[in-house]
Amino acid sequence: MHLAQLHDGEPVEFITSNVRNRHGSWLLKREVDIRSVMMNTDCFTSHGISGFDQIIENFDGLLIPTEADLPEHTAYRSFMTPAFAPRRIAEMDEVIRKRVRQVIARVGPRGGCEFMAEAAYYMAIAPWCEIMGLDYSEADRWIRFPVGILQYNDDRAELMAEMIEAARGLYRELKGSDREGLLAAFVNTPFDGEVPSEASAIGFIVFMLIAGVDTVGATLGFAMRQMAMDKVLRTRLRSHPADVAPFVEEVLRRYPVVATNRYVKKDVKVGSVTMKAGDNVILPMSMANSDPAANACPMAFDVERGRTRTMTFGAGMHMCIGSRVARALLQIAVEEWLLAIPDFEIPDDAPLVARVGDVIALTALPLSYPITSAATV
Ligand code: HEM
Repeated sequence: MHLAQLHDGEPVEFITSNVRNRHGSWLLKREVDIRSVMMNTDCFTSHGISGFDQIIENFDGLLIPTEADLPEHTAYRSFMTPAFAPRRIAEMDEVIRKRVRQVIARVGPRGGCEFMAEAAYYMAIAPWCEIMGLDYSEADRWIRFPVGILQYNDDRAELMAEMIEAARGLYRELKGSDREGLLAAFVNTPFDGEVPSEASAIGFIVFMLIAGVDTVGATLGFAMRQMAMDKVLRTRLRSHPADVAPFVEEVLRRYPVVATNRYVKKDVKVGSVTMKAGDNVILPMSMANSDPAANACPMAFDVERGRTRTMTFGAGMHMCIGSRVARALLQIAVEEWLLAIPDFEIPDDAPLVARVGDVIALTALPLSYPITSAATV
């Protein structure tokens, strides 16, 4: 069924046992309802929304900051804010560009690639490594966790356990060290007089990994697919680089990859439905952005759209702190790719498969293009 058609039915539905909650969940569809739940921290909590504690034995940490409620959340958020400041992101431009060009230099001469596995995530992780203070040469080690876990394969629980062990190892390396970057700073910063416990530090490291790599790679995949399908668009973006920014905005609006959720803290009415304390509520950003009441002709991809109502990065106190990083990476990746490989397409017989869940993504994006040795590193 087409996403937009879901808006024709009931605005709030109950769906039975699902990957998010085996007891079933409320599914919200209207942008106004999704936004109001995200803003309403009196009646809804983020505590436990990852479900990690239910899947991984001996893990009782919260994923910080996303599962933290008030007042703890405020301290975590203030601590993180400087690392995501516009000036800091602008300073990273050169190094992100260099990494993106390295990836293009690797796949360009082959005349084709599977963009998701061979390029998207290697580009997406570049700014992440800079902010977190991790060495880009270890990209492979970190990419496999978020991408594998969000794929919901059979080995998901094992991969999660492995990721937690990797985060524990990193925590021990960083504790007491003078290493740079957000992860070392978190591990060694006192909150309310005490440095974070091992469980809290692991919860922070794991969430940073889950939040900041797969989401960007997934969105970049949709950007590339859109360009691969539309020669006029490619030509326009190449000849008018100023249009790359509105193009990125429309990609973010049309392909919002995250679906998050909340638990009901106290009974509350949403639309015509009364939700009970303990109920789970799924909040898909794709439903919000495709709501015709929020954006006219929501399924059309239109770079000329101008102002939109989008919830791609959420709303309220948990709104994405990495939105500027995501925008910067997307802009740079599109610019650099078009400079090096102006013409590319999806081979006719290529199957296009997407995964759904917490982060929607193409599982593969085969591209073909004339062999190029462009992209100077
Ligand atoms: C296109 C890429 C991205 C999308 C679509 C996206 C989307 C979102 C959404 C919808 C939320 C809200 C979740 C909720 O309220 O339950 C969120 C939160 C968050 N995101 Fe992103 N995100 C992206 C990239 C990033 C990046 C690059 C980083 C960091 C490097 C990041 C870090 C975070 C963090 C830390 C939170 C939690 C904020 C808090 O709880 O205060 N995200 N993101």
